[in-house]
Amino acid sequence: MKILFFSSHEYDKKSFISVNQNFNFTLDFVEFRLEPKTAALAQGYDAVCAFVNDDLCKDTLKVLNKIKVKRILLRCAGFNNVDLDYAQKEKLLIYRVPEYSPYAVAEHAVGLLMCLNRKIHKSYNRVREGNFSLNALEGMDLFNKTVGIIGGGKIGECFANIMKGFGCKILLFDPKPSESILKVGVKISSLDHVFKKSDIVSLHCPLNEYTKYIINKTSIDKMKKGVILINTSRGGLIKTSDVIHGLKGLKIGALGIDVYEEEESIFFKDHKGDIIQDDVFERLMIFPNVLITGHQAFLTHEALHNISEVTLKNAITEKSINLIY
Ligand code: NAI
Repeated sequence: MKILFFSSHEYDKKSFISVNQNFNFTLDFVEFRLEPKTAALAQGYDAVCAFVNDDLCKDTLKVLNKIKVKRILLRCAGFNNVDLDYAQKEKLLIYRVPEYSPYAVAEHAVGLLMCLNRKIHKSYNRVREGNFSLNALEGMDLFNKTVGIIGGGKIGECFANIMKGFGCKILLFDPKPSESILKVGVKISSLDHVFKKSDIVSLHCPLNEYTKYIINKTSIDKMKKGVILINTSRGGLIKTSDVIHGLKGLKIGALGIDVYEEEESIFFKDHKGDIIQDDVFERLMIFPNVLITGHQAFLTHEALHNISEVTLKNAITEKSINLIY
């Protein structure tokens, strides 16, 4: 079994090479994205392994199909970047890793929230420069606050559990809530109710045609003044220009994001010394109450190990729940 890894980073190599000791596959790694113009590099491989920002559009899949690479291993949970209609029609096998550590992502979401609420990012810089002033560092108690969760799957449930521990009330919008999240003690609510009543809104739903821009001017208008908005799910859930408007008008009190709708050209690379051309992203970066991380919510040792193990198992499995469609 020969597998070509696209968009690979040092942490991928380290983890996959270690887990591959149990599989003995031939693994090759390239740093660039999988897209129509790079897909032909997979000629002679049995499978390709792709990540969140690889472009598995129809043109990419056509090239892979032509060179007889029928097995695509996503080393992530989300699959909004795949043309599933074409894949299904051409019987391409698309596998994913549906669950590797929901704790990793939920804990990162809580990290963003805690940092923004208690202004830890500001005090870190101040203290390093010898400034121990407490001006403008006030936060709020999370105890008794209302947290709105959109998407109560594996990650949403972990997030709900943690926030319950803080003594928060939890409102959940999910068209198909799981049995297990109901046991956490969440109140199932309409989307409007979540927007109207929440002090904190955290997004944990997939990106699809129904959820694209679920956070937009209309939804922001319904929210409480000073709401803290957290997105560790997918960038396209938020219409960034509308959120910037909400931040400028002080409607949004703070924004913590691990994902950005145009992240493909920015994230996962070192742009030190470059001029970033995305003006919307640059505007976001200068708000003092915006905290951005570069799609790292999944990045724990446990998650990387699980991703590697499940992905390599997917390479030799015929039917499994990890096969999409
Ligand atoms: P999951 O499949 O367990 O849960 C998703 C939940 O969203 C389900 O309960 C589903 O019913 C619900 N949902 C579907 N449509 C909805 C809608 N229109 N409104 C509200 N809820 C809706 O997925 P999981 O594992 O909890 O992951 C959630 C998302 O987190 C993934 O889709 C992915 O985009 C993102 N993610 C981000 C990572 C990161 O590193 N930042 C890592 C892993 C996942």
